[in-house]
Amino acid sequence: MSTNHPTSDSPRAPTSPKAAARPHGAPASPAGRHPAPPCTLVIFGAGGDLTKRLLMPALYNLAVDGLLDDGMKVIGVNHGERETKAWCEDLHSALQQFAADKASTFHTDKLDDNAWNWIARRLHYIAGDFEDDDAYQHLAQQLDGNAQCNVVFYLAVSARFFKPIVERLGKAGLLKQDDDGNGPFRRIVIEKPFGTDLASARDLNRHLLTFVRERQIYRIDHFLGKDTVQSILAVRFANALFEPIWRREYIDSVQITASEMIGVEGRGSFYEQTGAFRDMVPNHLFQLLGMVAMEPPNSFDAEAVRDRKAEIFDALKPLTPDDVVFGQYGKGLSGAAYRHEPDVAPDSQRETYAAARVQIDNWRWAGVPFYLRTGKRLAARRTEISVHLKNVPFRPFRATAVDTLTPNVMTLRIDPSHGTSFHFNVKTPGPVMQIDAVHSSFDYDDFFAERANVGYETLLYDCMLGDETLFQRADSIEATWAAVDGVLHPKHGVAIPVYDYAAGGAGPAEADALLACDGRAWRSLTPTEPT
Ligand code: BG6
Repeated sequence: MSTNHPTSDSPRAPTSPKAAARPHGAPASPAGRHPAPPCTLVIFGAGGDLTKRLLMPALYNLAVDGLLDDGMKVIGVNHGERETKAWCEDLHSALQQFAADKASTFHTDKLDDNAWNWIARRLHYIAGDFEDDDAYQHLAQQLDGNAQCNVVFYLAVSARFFKPIVERLGKAGLLKQDDDGNGPFRRIVIEKPFGTDLASARDLNRHLLTFVRERQIYRIDHFLGKDTVQSILAVRFANALFEPIWRREYIDSVQITASEMIGVEGRGSFYEQTGAFRDMVPNHLFQLLGMVAMEPPNSFDAEAVRDRKAEIFDALKPLTPDDVVFGQYGKGLSGAAYRHEPDVAPDSQRETYAAARVQIDNWRWAGVPFYLRTGKRLAARRTEISVHLKNVPFRPFRATAVDTLTPNVMTLRIDPSHGTSFHFNVKTPGPVMQIDAVHSSFDYDDFFAERANVGYETLLYDCMLGDETLFQRADSIEATWAAVDGVLHPKHGVAIPVYDYAAGGAGPAEADALLACDGRAWRSLTPTEPT
């Protein structure tokens, strides 16, 4: 997260009419940002979905913004012989397709040919099996032409290849870098899953650290690439308004929701192995919780921020089966039941929904529950954090028509709507003292120029710069898995029940009961009023 400060000290006025688009091919980098150092990006899994959908669009956007160095090269490695030209054409047509898709975050009216040609000239394809030593010799030859070059190895591959690839890179001498950090860098990027539980995460970390140092590993949680997630720290620590009340004395509870309308989308076999809890909770939802709950860092240096987050993960009270509710979508308004999805067992007990009550054992948050929920085929796509404040301590309105007050709620909206809302009470117009809850909302779109952003731009750029702030450290990965180990491996092997919910609904009733027994309720996924 490179930190740049706007030069103006006046509050920004809403852009009106809606954001002007970026000029095509604008070569200049955005104010205060400079191109990343020259580097070769080696993508393992060059033919895969992640490369097409996210890495290439992100590189393209960085090129448009002038944030890539002229010395940049991209080497794609994949099994299967093909010409660089064919790979290039394939990537270009995928880019055009995403750019034309209005629902895509990469949507743009027109692809900038200059930016694409700039990238295309730098692409080079190598055929190779990830577990074949020869492929690494070939790669070494390609890199040897410039033994002094910076290299980022991006493992856009299935997690089962993490160990074999890093091991072979290490043995081929391709991960060597000077300890003082002044020479050329060699970095590897991997994406979740970082193991499937505490034991496997420890094993993976141990294995990787045999061949690279911790500071060479960039573990991506793509939620941290979202501006709205990074903005949580800005909202908390760049305003005097919120931090004083951001504690147990004023906050009753926090809800973190990541609900999706889509089902498992052809990923039945992956989902059968993984389930909603492993897929979302110890990683994405815990990352959101970390951003909301961490103590203020002394600076925005990577270690300062990551230390504060690590403290929160260490303070998580280990979850037990009583803290979670699992659900599975049956037939409903929106499509087939999970058990009828391709590659799913007809009697599957795999959860497609998970809710959890999480406690943080520290001074600031003692007694404040964090309720997390996520699921497929729910009524709405909604990723948000709502902070529920306690009610006022005393009501001077008791001799008036006011009999109840609605507690304040602040909502940080991550996706698909981006912004922050606040619900608070005002007097309604008229001669009688009556109070009603209203809401005030900030929406990114109203203030800032729309950007064709896939969320990987910052992550790639930061990795090339060597800024590790947004990446996961081994200790945090292990702490998050440790917190959920009692759910993944319940004592005495008792399976956690999986309750049915209708596709297109709000999740299982048992998840409502999880909050009801604490005297609370989930926020509606389909509120009739603005949120
Ligand atoms: C991925 C999960 O990590 O995150 C998917 O594997 C999930 O199951 C996705 O759909 C959600 O990410 P986003 O950015 O679309 O909210």
